[in-house]
Parts: sequence; structure tokens; C-alpha cells
Amino acid sequence: MPYKIILLPGDGIGPEVIAAAEQVLRALPLDMEFTRAEIGFGAYERLGTPLPDSTLDAIRSSHAALFGAVTTPPNIPGYFSPVVRMRQKLDLYANLRPTRSIPHPSSRPGIDMLLVRENTEGLYSGVERLEDDGNRAITERIITRKGSERIIRKAFDLARQAGRNKVHVVHKANVLRQTCGLFRAVALEVAKEYPEIEMLEMLVDTCAMELVRAPEQFEVIVTTNLFGDILSDEACMFVGGLGVAASANIGAQASVFEPVHGSAPPLVGTGKANPTATFLATAMMLEHIGETESAAHLRSAIESCIAEGQVTPDLGGTLTTTEMTEKVKCRL
Ligand code: NAI
Ligand code: MG
Repeated sequence: MPYKIILLPGDGIGPEVIAAAEQVLRALPLDMEFTRAEIGFGAYERLGTPLPDSTLDAIRSSHAALFGAVTTPPNIPGYFSPVVRMRQKLDLYANLRPTRSIPHPSSRPGIDMLLVRENTEGLYSGVERLEDDGNRAITERIITRKGSERIIRKAFDLARQAGRNKVHVVHKANVLRQTCGLFRAVALEVAKEYPEIEMLEMLVDTCAMELVRAPEQFEVIVTTNLFGDILSDEACMFVGGLGVAASANIGAQASVFEPVHGSAPPLVGTGKANPTATFLATAMMLEHIGETESAAHLRSAIESCIAEGQVTPDLGGTLTTTEMTEKVKCRL
């Protein structure tokens, strides 16, 4: 039976990087069936919603989905971010963001970390309101035992699978005594089930500083939603930037893989969009569905392109998105 893969091109450079990834997937010896589904501002203009139910249903009945990026205009009343909504509706509770050195002069060497970010609650729970005639704005930060337990267990499980020795639990429990306090307490409990892995605690501001000072010290970081969002963007800057940063959104019933970058409107149609982030997200998807050999081939093809300077302008090269895609395909 072929793998059912949903492609979610989205807006801006999303369709360009997703088309590139589809070509690379078709060049691998895999039996896959691709279906495109709508998401983003273009979908809103065509269908009246940035996230049609049909898209959610398609992802639920697939083996995995590969998502490009969307444009989220700030000033449309009633509009919502389909990315945050998709993660909540599909309960994609684990956002995995690996940061690894690449063979490129702009990359610091010796970095290989995985940031595990809670993806469905915290400050992005979506509970916001205005009071006092709009002069007081309130966001509720919701942290649950269930939400904390499953993300912390996920981080320790991934650490165990990868033979890692330590997990940093990042929080701000000295100030956010209830919410971060609960997250921390659950972490201390869960860590007992993994005696071979050392649990280290770090306050989020210290972590931001330590990431700049000595990123090599981190193996696995687990943290709440907003902290993870910020720290993972920070981390990717040591290893080539947004053009090469990939992520996974994993739930019990569905999974969506995506580049970390957005729709990059100025790059649309210029051929300057680096497809590497989406290729690395594709490799994560292949690993997730168990096609580890194809994933390894894809990773080594990408690394060899980067090492030989066959890259897009953001990494100092002269290739277009299409040309770099061809170079990767040749190596498969
Ligand atoms: P962005 O990630 O689109 O761009 C930030 C910077 O990185 C720009 O200088 C851009 O040229 C560069 N860049 C991004 N992707 C690149 C690639 N593949 N190759 C080379 N350079 C690349 O973030 P920005 O400009 O803040 O947001 C643009 C739009 O994207 C907004 O509407 C925002 O809401 C949306 N967005 C969507 C995300 C998603 O779909 N997951 C994530 C972040 C932003
Ligand atoms: Mg972000």
C-alpha cells in the first residue's frame, strides 16, 4: 500500500519549496501518493477560511503531511493563524526542532541539539481578552499536568532513543510559580523513570544566554510553547539560519512536517528561496514513517550540496531553488 502524503503548499514561497520537496521525494525509491490540500491566506480568499475542515480530514487520514508556509496578515478581523489552529485541532502536541551544524563556513561546528517544544497550550492557548474599554489586555497561560507530562515524556523518550545523556528542562518557575512550577514538578517526576538520563534545569533567560555562549552544551531541551518558539529560532542562527531550519509537529493521530521559516513574500518568484529547510523537514518525515534509509540518503545528498557550495544566495551560493533541487536529486 502506498504512503498517503498530504502536501500543504500554503502561501508565498510555500508552493515553491513544497514543489521542490515533491520532486525529491519522487526521486526516492518509495511508493507514495501525493494529495494537495488548502491552507493559508490564499485559501481564505478562495474558500472563506484559512483552514478548511477538508484539509484537517485529509491530514488525519494520511501517513504524514508536509507543509510549506503561510502568510498571516495582521489586520483582518476574525482571521486566525491556521498554523496554530492546525496544531491545536490535530493535537500535534510535540514540536521538534533539531539544530545541527552544517558543513558551511557560516555554521558553528559541534552543535547537535533537539529542542522539544510544547505545541498546544501555554501562552498560545488562545485565551485572550480586552477589558477596560480596550485599555487592558489579558492572555491566559494554561499549563496542564497532562500537557506537561506528555511533552516531557516525549523529550526523554527521544533522548533515550538517540542515546543522549542529558535533558535540559527550561522554565521560569522562580517567577511563574504556578504555571512553570507545575511544568517543573512534572518534569522532576517523569525524569525518575529515566535514570540513565541526567535532567538539568535552566531558567529561560539563562538558556537564551547559554545558547549564544556555548550552544554545544545542549543535547535535548524541553520547554513550554512560547519559550520554545523563541529559543528554537535563536538556535537556528548558529547553523545556517532560517533557510535550513526544519521542524516536526507530532501528535498521537497525525503529524505535520515543515520548514521553520515563513512565506518570505519578497523572495516569491525570485528563485532565491532555499529549499533545504523543507528537504530536512522531508527527511524528518521519512524517519517518522520508518523510511530511515531514504532519509539518510536525502540528508547526505543535502550535506554534500552544501559542502560543495551548490546552494542558494542565503548560504552564499548562486543557485536558484530549482537548480539546487536538481543538484540534490542528482545525488539520490
Ligand atoms: P520569514 O520566515 O518569511 O522571513 C524571514 C527572513 O528569512 C526574510 O529575510 C526571508 O527572506 C528569509 N527567508 C525565509 N525563508 C527563506 C528561505 N527558504 N530561503 C532564504 N531565505 C529565507 O518571516 P517574516 O518575514 O517575519 O514573515 C513573512 C510571513 O510569513 C508573515 O505573514 C508571517 O506571518 C508568516 N510566517 C509564517 C510561518 C509559517 O507558516 N509557519 C512562520 C513564520 C512567519
Ligand atoms: Mg517561530
